[in-house]
Amino acid sequence: SKNMHVNGCLGLSSVAALGASIICNKIPGLAPRQRTICQSRPDAIIVIGEGVQRAINECQFQFRHGRWNCSALGERTAFGRELKVGSKEAAFTYAIIAAGVAHAVTAACTQGSLSGCGCDKEKQGFYNQEEGWKWGGCSADLHYGLGFSKVFVDAREIKQNARTLMNLHNNEVGRRVLEKGMRLECKCHGVSGSCTTKTCWTTLPKFRQLGFMLKDKYNQAVHVEPVRASRNKRPTFLKIKKPHSYRKPMDSELVYIERSPNYCEADARTGSVGTQGRLCNRTALQPNSCDLMCCGRGYNTHQYSRVWQCNCKFLWCCYVKCNTCSERTEVYTCK
Ligand SMILES: *[C@@H]1O[C@H](CO)[C@@H](O)[C@H](O)[C@H]1NC(C)=O
Ligand SMILES: *[C@@H]1O[C@H](CO)[C@@H](O)[C@H](O)[C@H]1NC(C)=O
Repeated sequence: SKNMHVNGCLGLSSVAALGASIICNKIPGLAPRQRTICQSRPDAIIVIGEGVQRAINECQFQFRHGRWNCSALGERTAFGRELKVGSKEAAFTYAIIAAGVAHAVTAACTQGSLSGCGCDKEKQGFYNQEEGWKWGGCSADLHYGLGFSKVFVDAREIKQNARTLMNLHNNEVGRRVLEKGMRLECKCHGVSGSCTTKTCWTTLPKFRQLGFMLKDKYNQAVHVEPVRASRNKRPTFLKIKKPHSYRKPMDSELVYIERSPNYCEADARTGSVGTQGRLCNRTALQPNSCDLMCCGRGYNTHQYSRVWQCNCKFLWCCYVKCNTCSERTEVYTCK
């Protein structure tokens, strides 16, 4: 199938393509606790796989013009290939995957396709006195989705180091962004649209919107460092890395512990795939300009003719007559 082909080998994202067969032992890079969850909830693992894939797709969309395009070298894990450096880019991927899993699980609950959850029952039937409407329809049970993401996604953080603190913090940022993005949808009832009664329910935001919100947070990510309670102890929390600063990062800020590599060259140590062969724009003054994208190595020019149907006319009766137009165009790829 398409998923399998794109990913090349078994990752969480290809579980969906395989159906509910128990393949938990074949999914690479699952922590022991994640394998246990996988075995007890094969239905959930499929949904989780879809959430991860959604997140990776969104990451690739948000960074399509960047030197780092959401690809990495190195070992394949259930969550895609992971960046070894604790950079802003790693921060973004952790946040969006945590949000992606919560989003997918919540959506599956709403659709009734996951056992053990459904619509948010807490709200069912209650009346909002102030605004004059009633909770109705199927409110998304975000609480369940967030909880699932926390249990499953956070379970991969088994080491006790600064990177773990960073990952857990960013996972939480991703889930908060989803929580912030929840919307209220309402419907009027009554004769010909008169709003005698109104029912409302909460719904999930579009995933694209979460992508943009997290991209903003990526642009403002803060550099942090671990603090140890005492020497030789494991780090216990993160603080902003600035002289004379003792501020902890806010729950809404993405954090990173290492500066980003420039992603110009392929480098197994950092996980950078480099920009050789990337398309670039000769005229733009943007991250995808050939100057920036190719890191000064220059670019190759490829010429081709673009052919399309043009000047189409509708002839009586009944067909359309077109000319064939063509144009020579050029694309540029980094050396
Ligand atoms: C990202 O860049 C790499 C290296 O040039 C390329 O092989 C890969 O196809 C790109 N991925 C996407 C999603 O554009
Ligand atoms: C290159 O960038 C310019 C200016 O931003 C834009 O108008 C043009 O469409 C871009 N070309 C391609 C091939 O994306």
